[in-house]
Amino acid sequence: MQEHGIIIRGGEVIDGTGRLRFRADIAIDDDRIAAIGDLSEAVAETVIDAGGRIVAPGFIDVHTHDDRMLRDAGDMTPKVSQGVTTVVAGNCGISLAPLVMTDPPPEPLNLIGDHTSYTHPTFAAFVETLERAAPACNAALLVGHGTLRVATMDDTQRPASADEIAAMQEKVGEAMEAGAAGFSTGLEYPPARCCETSEVITLAAVAARYGGIYATHMRSYAEGARSSLEEAIAIGREAGLPLVVSHFHCHTNENPGICSEALGWYEKALAAGSDMVADAYPYEASSTSILPEFVERKTKALVTWSKSHPEMQGRYIHDIAEEWGVDITEAAGRLAPGGAIYFGRDEENVKRLMTHQGIIIGSDGIPLNPHPHPRLWGTFPRVLGHYARDLGLMEMEDAIHRMTGASAERFRLKDRGEVRQGAFADLVVFDPATIIDAATFMAPETPAAGIDHVLVNGVPVWSAQGHTGAAPGRVVGKRV
Ligand code: ZN
Ligand code: CU
Repeated sequence: MQEHGIIIRGGEVIDGTGRLRFRADIAIDDDRIAAIGDLSEAVAETVIDAGGRIVAPGFIDVHTHDDRMLRDAGDMTPKVSQGVTTVVAGNCGISLAPLVMTDPPPEPLNLIGDHTSYTHPTFAAFVETLERAAPACNAALLVGHGTLRVATMDDTQRPASADEIAAMQEKVGEAMEAGAAGFSTGLEYPPARCCETSEVITLAAVAARYGGIYATHMRSYAEGARSSLEEAIAIGREAGLPLVVSHFHCHTNENPGICSEALGWYEKALAAGSDMVADAYPYEASSTSILPEFVERKTKALVTWSKSHPEMQGRYIHDIAEEWGVDITEAAGRLAPGGAIYFGRDEENVKRLMTHQGIIIGSDGIPLNPHPHPRLWGTFPRVLGHYARDLGLMEMEDAIHRMTGASAERFRLKDRGEVRQGAFADLVVFDPATIIDAATFMAPETPAAGIDHVLVNGVPVWSAQGHTGAAPGRVVGKRV
């Protein structure tokens, strides 16, 4: 009789490839899936009953700002509690390494930590730290352009000089050698706003040499969205690497239709052979730094943190402005540095993004915020419970494919994102009848419902009883 470490019995398997669910038992030996099928003859040290449940690959959160949570609070509860087993950190040009800060970091580097967090002179130092104090889930790491600019330039409000570009190229190379999966930019943000496209191409080309990917928070998701997308595509093509367009939620108050238009440009580029993918999250509101121009553009903004007015977190900026007797721009200026949740998108556009075959799912959660956007805790169960089951907009097989198999393929995470014999045993067992996000804008730090078991590299990290305390995560997506 075959004896295994773990057998998950009696579940319906949705394997991450997009194919229809099928009934099977799954055996796990060490960190891998050893067998799939009728295993009623086999025994195991641990048996997990998955009757009436779905067994799927653990979700891959392709867009996160989890760098510091991975390092300092490695239980990763906001992620593993919703079935996530791998996160991609270092997005939007913001990575914790390579950078040592003694002064407060500029916007938006402060989204992931204050100066006491930026302590890694090399990317290798950061990777070593993560590997020593393993987090509960896996991490693929991007090196951020904004971080490199702050580390290299005395003044980021100008194009980089040839020498500075050469110095940044060396740092991208060091990061790729140390285990990064690619390079990210945040071209809308202050540290990168003044850079030329050629600078980005030159740096992305170094990541390309190692087989890395290029993920970008574009220069604009509003009026300038079209030229920004063209720039992103040109960078991918010229540098010779796959492109990931981050949080593809295009919006202007005057033209909510720009989201559909942007999907049209995106489809055209895909049809023309662009090697690209875009990610999105299932909410009508965004969240980032408090920048006066962002506050002015939006209908409502909720404070997630404020250095100067911590008592205002969880309140709306227009209410604060009224209380202070000032306009919202002045209020935003007084609240900064800080963060906000910005409302005003069209729900129809969120549905379009969630159901689009070319969109993969990434939360864009910001764990450092004392009052975070609920996407940090609820993204994946919300797509499955709200958009797939309750609204009936798609099959769970389709949604899961764009949270697992498609994501692993685009980020080149070998042997992850699929339930397959020989693949890593990153798995989630959930109840398709009850899975749902429970985090709300007012109570954002609430674990999702319906998640029964989460395994990372064959080790249970979360169950309906809570966190197991295990920390089996690894740095994945290494190109060397
Ligand atoms: Zn971003
Ligand atoms: Cu982001």
